[in-house]
Amino acid sequence: MSTISLKVNGRLHTLDVDPETPLLFVLSDELGLRGPKFGCGMAQCGACTVILGGRTVRSCVKPVSAVLQDEVTTLEGLDDVLKLTISAPVPCRKRRRETFMLSSSRHIFELPAACEGG
Ligand code: FES
Repeated sequence: MSTISLKVNGRLHTLDVDPETPLLFVLSDELGLRGPKFGCGMAQCGACTVILGGRTVRSCVKPVSAVLQDEVTTLEGLDDVLKLTISAPVPCRKRRRETFMLSSSRHIFELPAACEGG
């Protein structure tokens, strides 16, 4: 066991864990986050995908010791981004250009920005 500091969804956590523990288990077992899921455990299905320093990674195969330099964002951490998008209406004719892209390595979600008027 080692004491590590890990920034997840904007909050800094100090945890006592084995540095070789997969990030997925730290997120779920230590922090109680349910966004990233266990699927295959072999970096194949993407169920465990998180955003690490702006890039998507499979947390089931990434030791927590390898991610201490970057902030981790899970689905739970995207809530603020989505609320920001929804609370900033734009004219509907600009809607197409004002979409918010949310992607993982296997899925891309295009969420329209809120619009008002014509
Ligand atoms: S659990 Fe399938 S890629 Fe991680």
